[in-house]
Amino acid sequence: MNAQKLIDTARALVAGDKGLLAMDESTLTCNKRFARLGIPQTEAARRAYRELIITTPGLGECISGAILYDETIRQQEQDGTPFVKVLVDAGIIPGIKVDTGAKDLAGHPEEKITEGLDGLRDRLAEYARMGARFAKWRAVITLGDRLPSRGCIEANAQALARYAALCQEAGLVPVVEPEVLMEGAHTLERCREVTEEVLLAVFNHLYTQRVTLEGMLLKPNMVLPGSTCPEQETVDEVADATVKCLLRAVPAAVPGIAFLSGGQSCELASARLNAMNVRFQSRRPWALAFSFARAIQQPALEIWQGQKAHVLPAQRALYHRARCNRAARLGEYNATAEMT
Ligand code: 13P
Repeated sequence: MNAQKLIDTARALVAGDKGLLAMDESTLTCNKRFARLGIPQTEAARRAYRELIITTPGLGECISGAILYDETIRQQEQDGTPFVKVLVDAGIIPGIKVDTGAKDLAGHPEEKITEGLDGLRDRLAEYARMGARFAKWRAVITLGDRLPSRGCIEANAQALARYAALCQEAGLVPVVEPEVLMEGAHTLERCREVTEEVLLAVFNHLYTQRVTLEGMLLKPNMVLPGSTCPEQETVDEVADATVKCLLRAVPAAVPGIAFLSGGQSCELASARLNAMNVRFQSRRPWALAFSFARAIQQPALEIWQGQKAHVLPAQRALYHRARCNRAARLGEYNATAEMT
């Protein structure tokens, strides 16, 4: 393991005003999103969509790294240029999702454990040879009456730590993603309490598995009220709850935190990230960035609808969201940024 190389990559991913673009939807998830819009669920359509994303003019101005899926990292542009080369030429660091999905956790009804550790060392070596410099693993924590259980939190935290250690051994920066889901009627306070408990467990296991904190990134949820909770806090209240929770649980050695969007609207995701950067500008040890999928891609996907003639307007919409989130990193996102 070359620790300095890991540290340099981790820092590069959250440097300046850029952030990550998650475009690592599994075939199943991608097909579900296509089906909703009447787009054919074929390899050719998925390839065309991913080509649209990575050839968006100016994308590299706002995006430092793109997270690919196994199918996507092996694909090429129509002219035969490998996707990995297209990204590198645009100044974007290629990354790869390496978990194999969240499965039912035995003995824990309604809870999930993320799988993918078996054979991971070999898969990481292959991805590194293909040009990936960082990886992602997502754990899912469901909130409910008596959920999450300690068993679910511990099992997922340990898997995240074992994944992270294997990534660093292979020279890839691990993006560690424990997602406390937004779905449900729970309050913001309940989300804060669980997010803190989960993050403390995750960093405990990262420490136990000897993960170099300087050479990793955290990809957490924002601290939010449940999507069906009657009380929805303001943007500033969400920003304060989120950063205060992270300050209690995330060591200062971690170079950056890149949030997932989790089903928030594009505008709210940008506004909340912006408020965190405005309100905690001089009171946080790590960069506060983004690693959004839906909150960058969704408008573009809806415009594209699988039509060649819609590629340019879809790319403009994607670039717009990327720019809005770059502005949010600087604390400069506002209604005017949204209009331009
Ligand atoms: P969303 O931003 O759509 O939540 O996706 C982030 C992600 O990468 C989920 O693993």
